Amino acid sequence: MKRDLIRDVLERRDYGGDVVVAGWVRTRRDSKGGFSFLSLNDGSSFDCLQVVVPNNLPNYENDVLNLFIGGSAVVTGKLVESPGAGQPVEVHASSLRVLGFSDPNQYPLQKQRISYERLREVAHLRPRTNSFGAITRLRDALAFGTHKFFRERGFYYLHTPIITASDCEGAGQMFQVTTIDLDQLARQAQPPIYTSDFFGKRASLTVSGQLEAETYACALGNVYTFGPTFRAENSNTRRHLSEFWMVEPEMAFADLGDDADLAEDYLRFLFQFALESCPADLKFFNDRVDKTLLERLRGLAGSQFKRITYSEAIDVLEKSKAVFEFPVEWGVDLQSEHERYLTEEVFHGPVTVTDYPKQIKAFYMRLNDDNRTVAAMDVLLPQVGEIIGGSQREERLDVIEARIAEVGLKPEDYWWYLDLRRFGTVPHAGFGLGFERMVQFTSGMQNIRDVIPFPRTPGSVDF
Ligand code: 4AD
Ligand code: MG
Repeated sequence: MKRDLIRDVLERRDYGGDVVVAGWVRTRRDSKGGFSFLSLNDGSSFDCLQVVVPNNLPNYENDVLNLFIGGSAVVTGKLVESPGAGQPVEVHASSLRVLGFSDPNQYPLQKQRISYERLREVAHLRPRTNSFGAITRLRDALAFGTHKFFRERGFYYLHTPIITASDCEGAGQMFQVTTIDLDQLARQAQPPIYTSDFFGKRASLTVSGQLEAETYACALGNVYTFGPTFRAENSNTRRHLSEFWMVEPEMAFADLGDDADLAEDYLRFLFQFALESCPADLKFFNDRVDKTLLERLRGLAGSQFKRITYSEAIDVLEKSKAVFEFPVEWGVDLQSEHERYLTEEVFHGPVTVTDYPKQIKAFYMRLNDDNRTVAAMDVLLPQVGEIIGGSQREERLDVIEARIAEVGLKPEDYWWYLDLRRFGTVPHAGFGLGFERMVQFTSGMQNIRDVIPFPRTPGSVDF
């Protein structure tokens, strides 16, 4: 079907020109003057197109008067300058063909505002709402902007495996992948024998593409992965998903300072890119979700990020008068409340925290000379807290072998990872950005379940 995108039609000014549009009806209003006004949306833009349908069309009574919210149609007509204030142009229909009717008494989306919680129950239809159309276009822009940013800086886009035998974060929060018949095992009360499982050993869904990305960085220099990751942590919060997308750049010949520079450049780039790519969608979020959104994004696009060490952050938190649910002392991991306090109350903006205690970070991070901290960094944003976690990687073979033993991992599981240190080791660094947290931050949406098409969380895998 040859058609014009409504996005493009709304920009056109060649009045009298031919137009073919298709879309879903948002509203229909019948006027006494012998017309019906259809508001049509095809997802290509936030704004709808007004279509004026004269009542002398042969199928007016049977079709047009039976088109309600959710119905679909294709319209042929002429582009006309709109006399109404609401839109620059409208289309005067010369023919209209209904593609699908929609019973307004059964259609779950009505004109009235519906709560985001209710919309999660109709996740297959929510992309037809203003909010989810806007989220989807913003998500797309942030993904495209990600590829643009890294390509322009000479990074290669790398696909890392989704099924893996190694636990990158060492946290043991992995979803197992198996073809063993679990029901049969249970009936026979037998333990699983992984040597006869599909891969000949225990396998899981990946929590991060980092370890594999490191191998390619140690050959091609700069690479990045951008794919789904899976974590079986039982966190029912507004910033955790069980399946989420992560952007993970990895740079050879780089240290923690280079890593923080890249992370901050990338964030600034994405804020600017979103502002340029999605003005109408961001204006909607600014009007409806968070009145300070546009101002904040514009400010951040050109801002310097505050950089402090973990020890300095602990100092600030200990000296503050705030009361925290989780008490603060050197050695504890920063909780969301601490991250928000630092960004929202102390520094009023993004903060990059570096050099965390080694016992709260993963085995692969480079040990600092003090022997008790590692070259880690977390980038914290107001509202969402940790958006990026990264580090300089331990490139010294003896040190990383000792670390692996210390944290109780099996060195034989990481033999290939250790080979990078054995043959031509180089300093290298990288980070992971939680893509949904980025969409959350740039839209102002409160709940991470509302920025991914089909959220997976503990107890929820519908659609
Ligand atoms: O800090 P994390 O665990 O770091 C890594 O996985 C490293 N391997 C990354 C690297 O250095 N290549 O996760 C990175 C980011 C977090 O900062 C957070 O934004 C996001 O991933 N994230 C989650 N997002 C949604 N739901 C979850 N359950 C998340 N867990 C982490
Ligand atoms: Mg982290």
